[in-house]
Order: sequence, then structure tokens, then C-alpha cells
Amino acid sequence: MFPAVSLLTTLLLALSIAASPVEIRDSPITLPTARRLNTSGGTINLLQHDQSRATALKTITIGRDTLDRRTGSIPVTNNAVDYIASVGIGNPATTYNLIVDNGCSVTWVGATTYVKTSTSVDTGNTIAVPSGSVPFSGTEYTDTVTLGSGLTIIQQPIGVASTSTGLTGVDGVLCIGPLDLTEGTLTDEPDTTIPTVTDNLYSQGIISQIVVSISFEPTSSESDTNGELTFGGTDAAKYTGAIAYAPLTTTYPSSYYWGINESIAYGTTTILSETAGIIDTATTLILIATNAYSLYQSATGATLDDTTGLLRIDSTQYSALENLNFNIGSSTYVLTPNGQIWPRTLNTYIGGSTSYIYLIVNSIGTPSGEGLDFINGYTFIERFYTVLDTTNSQVGFATTAYTNATTN
Ligand SMILES: *[C@@H]1O[C@H](CO)[C@@H](O)[C@H](O)[C@H]1NC(C)=O
Ligand SMILES: *[C@@H]1O[C@H](CO)[C@@H](O)[C@H](O)[C@H]1NC(C)=O
Ligand SMILES: *[C@@H]1O[C@H](CO)[C@@H](O)[C@H](O)[C@H]1NC(C)=O
Repeated sequence: MFPAVSLLTTLLLALSIAASPVEIRDSPITLPTARRLNTSGGTINLLQHDQSRATALKTITIGRDTLDRRTGSIPVTNNAVDYIASVGIGNPATTYNLIVDNGCSVTWVGATTYVKTSTSVDTGNTIAVPSGSVPFSGTEYTDTVTLGSGLTIIQQPIGVASTSTGLTGVDGVLCIGPLDLTEGTLTDEPDTTIPTVTDNLYSQGIISQIVVSISFEPTSSESDTNGELTFGGTDAAKYTGAIAYAPLTTTYPSSYYWGINESIAYGTTTILSETAGIIDTATTLILIATNAYSLYQSATGATLDDTTGLLRIDSTQYSALENLNFNIGSSTYVLTPNGQIWPRTLNTYIGGSTSYIYLIVNSIGTPSGEGLDFINGYTFIERFYTVLDTTNSQVGFATTAYTNATTN
């Protein structure tokens, strides 16, 4: 390596270490989240849900390309397994159960559930996110939004859906994706962006950095309020060691989301060379490019299970399972064998059998080189505290008390 290059690398490294979000402890700006598995609509097909979401995320085009964006919507099958937050809208506030989604940026509620109060203002704009991860179209309102206990944003733009696809048992979506994803969503002003909830917390002086930190924890229960979103900083009670940061990827289309570069090794064998992908709170599985998935399947000796679409192993293969190592920035995040399996007590909810062990690593459906070659879904976030830092254009991760948990 030339000296100049290594100096530049050192400088970039130093900068990324210096720029860390503020630490917030016991702050009022935290929002509890619940992981919920709702099987009342029938057995959940995790893979079908996650792969159609991956396709939707890869299809998006932004801003001036809004014509492309408006053609065709990709249905998301159901949202039965998700993290849900209770969010107040209006004054007096009605409480809505919203899916926590960092792959979208316009927070919205369904038309039939929206209760208008004196703070609800119809802007007259129509709003549409037809190929988003959870497609909807409807009317833009501004309203008072309350997060957690008493954290109040005024005049927050929200979507009030007249049509939406694939939502069951929830009232809408709390979107914590990047601002640029809002471009093109207002039908009459396609070049305009709409401030997100996090942007308005910042511009209204409630937080000092545009940062959202996510603590999810593995659970073997059907419903468990075990997660926490922290706006404006990080919560040291929720992680161990130090948070290491990696820059947002410049590779399209991952760059429109919370995208990073990573490589993945099964034990010491690289199965995915460094490439771009995303961190996604509304995807369950860890989806990897087909070439990496084939290598993972042969290394683990797993069998493709026709009923669930997941890879399955027996207990002997489970005992031999090696760590899956995620190299991000200059750190390696070790997903243990237990972190690579679906909670066994919940096997029947996904159409599985109690005699098998199902792997949560699966295929994204396309080979590496498409610019969105992996999705680290919430099964990854449940093992590593995750910091979405707009202010410093980076994503941070840290280990937690659950990184090595054996709850699955
Ligand atoms: C589960 O989903 C059904 C629709 O499939 C919905 O009616 C029900 O309210 C949901 N249950 C919970 C606890 O959210
Ligand atoms: C990520 O990888 C791409 C090539 O895959 C490279 O162009 C880019 O510089 C890398 N780093 C970032 C921060 O995007
Ligand atoms: C997880 O276990 C490994 C191996 O025992 C250990 O090196 C690592 O420090 C543990 N990590 C955490 C966060 O407890």
C-alpha cells in the first residue's frame, strides 16, 4: 500500500472513531418495542415474507426516477412477525401499534384507524409509497406525534392510508429510514422530501443528533416487549464493550437504506466477499446472496425444508455448527450457532416440526453483485446493538448481554 493511501485510511479511521453519538442514559427519549408473532392469519411463511420484502427494497428508485417508482407494487405477504411500537398521534393522543421499520421513511397509519383531533391538519397532498417495503397510498396530514412517555413532536407529516397491502393486526408503520427515501412520495411535489420523525425531533430541539439506536433481544415467546428504540443517542445499559462504527455504503441501491459493506465467513471460510447490503428491522431472517447461501448450505450440511423454505439441520449437525462471522468496518461480529437458529419452541408457528432445527440464514434470491447482496434482519439486531447515525453517516454495532444467549 502507498504511504499516502495508508495515511488517508488512518485519518478516515480516526475521524470515524471521533464522531460518536452522545450517550443517553435513562433518557425519556426511549420507546419500548414488542416482538410479536401473530399466527391468527394461519402459519407464517417467514421466507416468503422476507424474500418479497427484499425484492421490494431492491426495486425502489428515488426522486427524479419517480415514474419508475410508481409503476407496479410488490405485495408483501404479511407482517405477522415484527417489532411493534406504541405511538401516540393527535391531541388527545390515540395510541397506535406501528411496525418499527428502518427501510421506510414516511410514518403512516390506516385510514379506518386514524382518529382526527384539533391538531390533525390535512395538507391536501396525496402521498404514495407503492413499491415500498409495505406499500400504501393516501393523504398527507400533519399532526402531533408522541413517542414514549411525553416526548412530543408537533406538526409531524404522516401518511393516512386509503389503500395498503399486507398489513394485518397493526395500525401502520413507524418509519426510521433515511430522509432521501421520502423524495418522490408526494404526488404533486416529487422533488420534495418530508421530514421524518427523527428529523423533526432534531429540528424541534428535542434531540441533538439525528440518531436512532435499537436494542432488540431474542425471545422464545410469541409476544414479548423486550426491545427499545433510543432517539438522539445510545443507551449504555443495552450493550457491552464499545460501539464500533462503519460508514454508510456508497453502493446503490443499499445506499438508499441503512446500507453498509460487509463480508461473511462461516468459521474461517469466507462465504460472502465484501459487498453492500442493509440492516433491516422489518426482515426476520439473515438473507445472503445465492452464491453465499449455497456455500453456507454445503458447509452446514443443511437440508432444504420444503414446508418452511428454511434450511434445517438435526441435533448432530447443530452440535457441529460453526460461528458465522460478519466483518463490518474493522470489527468482526460473531453470530453463534444458537444465533443462527429459529427459536425451537416456535417451530410450529412457522409450519415447522419440533424434531428439526431451522436455520435463520437463507437466500436473498439473487447472486452477489446486485448492490444489495445481504439483509441483516432483526435476528442479527437481536444479537448486536445497532446505531443508525445520520449525523455522522455511519452505522454502529456493539455486543450485548444477548450476543451469546442460548435462548433459541
Ligand atoms: C393478529 O392478526 C389478525 C389478522 O390476521 C388481527 O385481527 C389480530 O388483531 C392480530 N392480533 C394481534 C394480537 O395483534
Ligand atoms: C463498499 O464497497 C464498494 C464496492 O463493493 C466500494 O466501492 C465502496 O468504496 C465500499 N465502501 C463504502 C463505504 O461504500
Ligand atoms: C461470547 O463468547 C465468546 C466465546 O466464549 C467470547 O469470546 C465473547 O467474549 C463472548 N461475547 C460476549 C459479548 O459475551
